[in-house]
Amino acid sequence: MSQPTPASSGSQQPRTRLGILLSGRGSNFLAIARAIANCSLAGVEIAVVLSNVAGAPGLAAARELNLPTECFVSRGRLRAEHDADVIACLRQHRVDLVCLAGYMRLLSPGFIAAFPDRILNIHPSLLPAFPGLDAQMQAFEYGCTVAGCTVHFVDEHLDHGVIVLQRTVPVLDDDDAHTLAARILEQEHLAYPEAIARVVSGRYRIEGRRFVAHAAQIS
Ligand code: GAR
Repeated sequence: MSQPTPASSGSQQPRTRLGILLSGRGSNFLAIARAIANCSLAGVEIAVVLSNVAGAPGLAAARELNLPTECFVSRGRLRAEHDADVIACLRQHRVDLVCLAGYMRLLSPGFIAAFPDRILNIHPSLLPAFPGLDAQMQAFEYGCTVAGCTVHFVDEHLDHGVIVLQRTVPVLDDDDAHTLAARILEQEHLAYPEAIARVVSGRYRIEGRRFVAHAAQIS
C-alpha cells in the first residue's frame, strides 16, 4: 500500500500537503487547522480547502484563515465530471493527502484511483456499525451503550476502508441524539489530527484490513 510523503520535523523539509474537502460546518477542518497552528500536528500544511457547496460555512472559515479555497458545485453535475475537476484542482495544489471532513458526497472510482490509499474520512460511528447518514441518531435509536467515531482510508465502498483509529463515547441515560452527537464531535476533533499524524509518519503497515503501527525503534 503506497503511503503519503512522510513529513519531517525539520523546518527545511517539505511538509505533507493536505487537501481538505468539506460540504458544511467545517468543525473537523478547524480542528485540524488548530492542531497545525498549535504544533500538536507537525510536518503538515493545508494546501487547499475545497467544497462542493458554495455557501458552506467551512469554506468561509477557511477564507478567514487566509487559506487557499476552491469551490466546485456538484449539484446537477455528473459525478465523474465533477470529480475530474476536483482531482485536477488537488493536483494543481500539489496535495499529498486528501482529508474528507464532512464531505457529503460519494467519490467516483476515478477519484479513489487518483489518490490510492491517500484519502482519509471521518465518520461519526464505530464502523462497521451505522455507515451512511445520521450515524449518531442510528446508534442512539438502536440503543447502543457505546458510540464513537472512526477515521479510515477511503475505498470504493461507503464508509468502509481500513480503519486508522477509533474513539469511543459512552451513551448516557439522559442523552438524546443531539447531546450524544455533540460528545462524539468532541472526540472527532481529537481523532482526526491524531489519525493524520499517524498516517503522515509513514510508520505503519496495512495487514489485510488492519492498520498496524510500527514498533518504536530503540537506538
Ligand atoms: C461530522 O460529524 C463527520 O463525522 C460527519 O459529518 C460531520 C461534519 O461536521 N461525516 C459523515 O457523516 C461522513 N459519512 P463538520 O463539518 O463540523 O466537520
